[in-house]
Amino acid sequence: MSLPASDLSKQPDHRTTMDLGLVLPETAEVRDGRLFVGGVDLTDLARTEGTALYVFDEQHLRHQMEAYVTAFRSQYLNADIIYASKAFLNKAVVRIVEEEGLCLDVSGGGELACALSVDYPAARVFVHGNNKTPRELEEAISAGVGRIVVDSFDELDRVSKIAGEHGITQEIYLRITPGVEADTHEYIKTGCEDSKFGFTMKDGFALAAVGRALSTPNVHLVGLHCHIGSQIFKLDPFAEAAQVMVAFLDQIRTEYSATLGELDLGGGLGIAYLTDDQPASVQEFAQMLCGAVKDACGRHDFPLPRLLVEPGRSLVANAGMTLYTVGTIKELPGIRTFVAVDGGMSDNIRTALYHADYEPTLANKADQPRTQIVTLCGKHCESGDAVVLDMPLQEAEVGDIVCVFSTGAYNQTMASNYNGQPRPGVAFLRDGHAKMVTRRETYEDLYARDTL
Ligand SMILES: Cc1ncc(COP(=O)(O)O)c(C=O)c1O
Repeated sequence: MSLPASDLSKQPDHRTTMDLGLVLPETAEVRDGRLFVGGVDLTDLARTEGTALYVFDEQHLRHQMEAYVTAFRSQYLNADIIYASKAFLNKAVVRIVEEEGLCLDVSGGGELACALSVDYPAARVFVHGNNKTPRELEEAISAGVGRIVVDSFDELDRVSKIAGEHGITQEIYLRITPGVEADTHEYIKTGCEDSKFGFTMKDGFALAAVGRALSTPNVHLVGLHCHIGSQIFKLDPFAEAAQVMVAFLDQIRTEYSATLGELDLGGGLGIAYLTDDQPASVQEFAQMLCGAVKDACGRHDFPLPRLLVEPGRSLVANAGMTLYTVGTIKELPGIRTFVAVDGGMSDNIRTALYHADYEPTLANKADQPRTQIVTLCGKHCESGDAVVLDMPLQEAEVGDIVCVFSTGAYNQTMASNYNGQPRPGVAFLRDGHAKMVTRRETYEDLYARDTL
């Protein structure tokens, strides 16, 4: 795996940090040339806590959650927001999710364990995954989770068996693939027919699955789920999926005389990774989605179901940043300039995985214009190890503090220990105070599970 060739015609944008618009967290400001978030000097923080370090603007995080709840509830009486914890998870964010009144989506036993460890109410947990293990199902059912989103016939049987052993009836959804194409990267499209997730509507497969679920003991089918993909800018596919799903609810009512009362339309709203990106706002998303569900229900004379959405990225990505220290710089004439940082694909795999875009700045030179085009490479033993490809940056020197914006989603949760790299800590920044909510891993942590 190597990097795509640098675009040598690309020109620096000469923007300073505060010109970066939507990618900036809410409380970003520049004081005496330095970038502050939550009233905290990121350069000082990086130098005292060490880098690489994930930092979050706590006010931004809370406001984004609040914005989702308000936007949906103002459009739709019976709406709930479920935070997709795969985007970013630690105990502190679970606490905030609870305080802000959101439900929680978990896709693995470890995510559920994290939620339960801080007494997040199990009844508000939605369990996802295309191949939940028997152990994970046992843990979920014995904890009393609210809904299990069943993804296959094998799983339906497993849930039924385990719920029976516990003497309970487990409330479930079925995950449906609505056959809707979203305009996003191939790797994060999930609603099309060729997907490992859920039951396809093609050839009556999903309808048959509903029939099976309705007659399976120890489970109660209360609703349907779909998720068409992630980082989606155009809202039309969401509306299309909503219409398809309501039409399917109507078909189920006709076929089985069953009126399912809940509809979870997944996550997927895109965010700005680049300053010029123009994602829909949460308000626009809510208006469009609630409108599409209400219209479709009206057309089918179907009672309005409880409506749920499951955002991950759009709740946390722009609240988060990663701080690094510049270790070395290599100018390769006619090829590119490498600025090497003390992290890389171990803390941000998205760039190596699908050449994701990010906006960087130098936190200690935040008022200076970004006058060169660089590749921020990592410290790992892979040629494709990069955090930022071909983006403008201020004139960098060894020891500068790099801040990469919009890394709040799918960075920390996808981190690895490649090359024995301890995973970064996480700091929440608010009111001039930095709280380390996850400490940096130690070398001892890395090999604590080994025996000789
Ligand atoms: C089932 C499900 N729900 C919600 C999400 C969250 O998506 P996003 O982070 O794009 O909002 C995902 C992520 O892929 C998912 O698989």
